[in-house]
Amino acid sequence: MPYSKIIGSGGFLPPRVVTNNDLAAELATRNIETSDDWIIERTGIRQRHLADPGVTTSQLATEAARRALLDAGIQAADLDLIIVATSTPDHIFPSTACLVQAALGARGGAAFDVQAVCSGFVYALTTADAFIQAGRARTALVIGAEVFSSILDWNDRGTCVLFGDGAGAVVLRADDQPGILAAKLGADGSQMNILCAAGNVSHGAVVGDPFLRMDGQAVFKLAVTSLTRSANDVCSMAGVRLDDIDWLVPHQANIRIINFLGRRLGVPDERVVVTVDQHANTSAASVPLALDAARHDGRIKAGDLVMMQGVGGGFTWGSVLVRM
Ligand SMILES: CC(C)(COP(=O)(O)OP(=O)(O)OC[C@H]1O[C@@H](n2cnc3c(N)ncnc32)[C@H](O)[C@@H]1OP(=O)(O)O)[C@@H](O)C(=O)NCCC(=O)NCCS
Repeated sequence: MPYSKIIGSGGFLPPRVVTNNDLAAELATRNIETSDDWIIERTGIRQRHLADPGVTTSQLATEAARRALLDAGIQAADLDLIIVATSTPDHIFPSTACLVQAALGARGGAAFDVQAVCSGFVYALTTADAFIQAGRARTALVIGAEVFSSILDWNDRGTCVLFGDGAGAVVLRADDQPGILAAKLGADGSQMNILCAAGNVSHGAVVGDPFLRMDGQAVFKLAVTSLTRSANDVCSMAGVRLDDIDWLVPHQANIRIINFLGRRLGVPDERVVVTVDQHANTSAASVPLALDAARHDGRIKAGDLVMMQGVGGGFTWGSVLVRM
């Protein structure tokens, strides 16, 4: 059975940077109080990139994809599978993956979206890996992309300070050398209410609440427990120890969750990739953006053992262990 090898990555962030102070000043005009100190202390976030009005998830995804293809040294025509993980698709249908396929000028391969909120990228990566292992695809583009700012309630200081927009992508190719070694996904739908955007469109009108709502403390606790268990599970599946991991690339939601997780897993801070300070939580884009940043600044090298982890609404979680 072939392995799925990561042969390229790319990331794209919309150019508009909004610092905590910018955001605090904006919210103050509506009598909503927050501060740089509060946001940094509770989350580690210093700034986020926000898409301008009219910029879509497929546009960010396409730019990240172009960079990943360039990095991999392949053409869009070589792709036989495109999966986009997003909770903020351009349209109800067609999928954002089909829009990206058209924008890249690729044609004929499978293209579809995966919806697992902030776990979306690890869900999509695991799905693409299964296609490659089964011989149903040879070269896959896996993207996490969001314009999450479009589903935030900018009058809710408990959530609007936490998120940002962006896209990250990887190219996978079938190879007889590892590759993705193990992956495990999980969900607990009974926890759907702790993190949701429970709206819908029906007969041309929004039904329900289209904004993200969150019970932050419940999410915090479930994130830490599910990710700890998930990390141990994939290590056992692959027959490696947590000590063997060169780099932990966790979902970038909150520095306190990341630090807590690193301590529980015994992975020292210097082997944990952190971008939450610069990007905030970009949902499905956070893991591929962090992976891409650490590949391109030279930290993650060929041969390194990397654990990627996602967690988010659903409630969902997952881990992927990969030999770069
Ligand atoms: C959201 C989170 C940062 C809030 O931190 P917390 O320590 O739990 O804070 P609380 O929600 O208990 O709120 C504490 C106080 O800060 C206030 N507060 C909330 N947001 C604020 C903001 N942006 N600025 C200033 N004060 C704020 C609250 O109103 C509350 O005030 P009160 O004590 O007067 O009622 C934290 O729960 C968290 O990180 N959860 C995980 C969220 C996450 O990662 N989600 C995505 C997962 S994919």
